Amino acid sequence: FDPSLPKSSTSSPASFAYKSVRERWPTIVTNAIKDVQRQIDQYERSNPKIVRQGMQIVAELECLKQEMHQNCTLSPLPDEEGELRGDVAIYNQELQDRGAQSATVGVRWHEVEWLFSECYLYRRLFGSFSRRTLWETYDVFQEQKRDAFKQSKNAVLEMAAYYVNVTENIGCDSGTVLSPEAVERNRAVFSDMMQQCLWGNATDLSLLTTLTYENIQQLQGSEVFKRRRDKVLVNDLDRAFDLLWQARNQGEEHRTVDFVLDNAGFELFVDVVVICYLLKSGLATNVKMHAKKIPWFVSDATPTDIEQLFDIIQRPLDFFKDSNDSGSGDFAKMYDEQPQHLEVLHGDLRTFRAEGRLAYQTSNFWTQAGSFWRLPISNTGLFAELRSSLLVVLKGDLNYRKLVGDACWDPTTPFQEALGPLGKSSKLNILSLRTCKADVVVGLPPGKDEELRSLPEGGGESGSRAWALDASRAVMQFSKGR
Ligand code: F6P
Ligand code: MG
Repeated sequence: FDPSLPKSSTSSPASFAYKSVRERWPTIVTNAIKDVQRQIDQYERSNPKIVRQGMQIVAELECLKQEMHQNCTLSPLPDEEGELRGDVAIYNQELQDRGAQSATVGVRWHEVEWLFSECYLYRRLFGSFSRRTLWETYDVFQEQKRDAFKQSKNAVLEMAAYYVNVTENIGCDSGTVLSPEAVERNRAVFSDMMQQCLWGNATDLSLLTTLTYENIQQLQGSEVFKRRRDKVLVNDLDRAFDLLWQARNQGEEHRTVDFVLDNAGFELFVDVVVICYLLKSGLATNVKMHAKKIPWFVSDATPTDIEQLFDIIQRPLDFFKDSNDSGSGDFAKMYDEQPQHLEVLHGDLRTFRAEGRLAYQTSNFWTQAGSFWRLPISNTGLFAELRSSLLVVLKGDLNYRKLVGDACWDPTTPFQEALGPLGKSSKLNILSLRTCKADVVVGLPPGKDEELRSLPEGGGESGSRAWALDASRAVMQFSKGR
């Protein structure tokens, strides 16, 4: 059910997939090994069973690295206990089917579709932990996620202040008719909020194998997103605003926005702020956040990350006080000067949750392989749920790749067409907020890709769409399916 076009593949030298399997993923697995090793050192004397199981995990991860390095075939995932067992079978079935279709024997790391192999990689990593009783809930990326978020404290304070500032006077009943000027003011705030939400996606730890932590600072804050306005190649926010505004004006009682999350840390914080804004402004009556069930793509948000973030918003000093980033000043001092902003945010959050208007949930679907084109067939329940929503916001690069099937589309293909069964007549209204970190892109005006490729570092004659790989450009694309 994926698009029939060729897909991004690890065999194509010009693609980011090629570099990923040969350099980026081995680094990610090496970092995971180091993390486990640190835990082992810590339990050396006190808990031999944790150590023994930890060493088994390390051995498996070393093996995974070797397999990638030597271009071996992707081996079937070992069986697991528990509710995610069914996913293992689905992955293995697909692996078998792909193997049967391939010219060589089995599916090899250096000649496989990028999307499938990357999902397989993270699923396999997870299995190494979940099959070990004393490690089954361990999130090997947790430390990285928390460390990176600690570097974001300035931007957190700034975002909280911005939230308080814009939401102070906006609560108004649905159905109230406002003056055209007031509508335009609301539209402008929505646009600002969504752009902050978009650029929150530029801080991605799976790219930090090439980015430094210092880069994080440069990727955050309101100044950054203002400077980057012209880096948004497609901006459909007006259409999304019109949809929400119209429903609000019509006084529809239940106006749910589903938010398919991407990364934890600063991105998740901004998402939560934006969600509170949607609720407080009356643009939505309910918001459902969709998180990953398992640690995924290094920095993706899990329910644990969400709960931890809620705690941090409630007690920011406990989390940020000992983090030191150069030149940022002292968080405790800055917080002392304006504690009320995070307190207001926390108060709103608590109210929305208590009222049942803000909730989060998970689904196996988000961590299965393959594109979202499979949704109507593989998860009818989730499909129906999203169809009953007024708007589905999908964050980030991976969600975008899955929406358009990670296929080699002509970049001028309309977004809605590239959504396949989630596009026209799907009854789904979709807004994708994506900073570009992968080759695929659709919905560009004619000539834009060529123009960007011809820039220094744009890719030029190399065949690589280099301009689309470092999260410096973005798209905000909307599709109205009903
Ligand atoms: O392209 C780099 C990459 O890390 C891919 O592995 C993945 O598609 C994506 O970026 C993850 O980014 P995001 O967190 O925005 O989905
Ligand atoms: Mg991610």
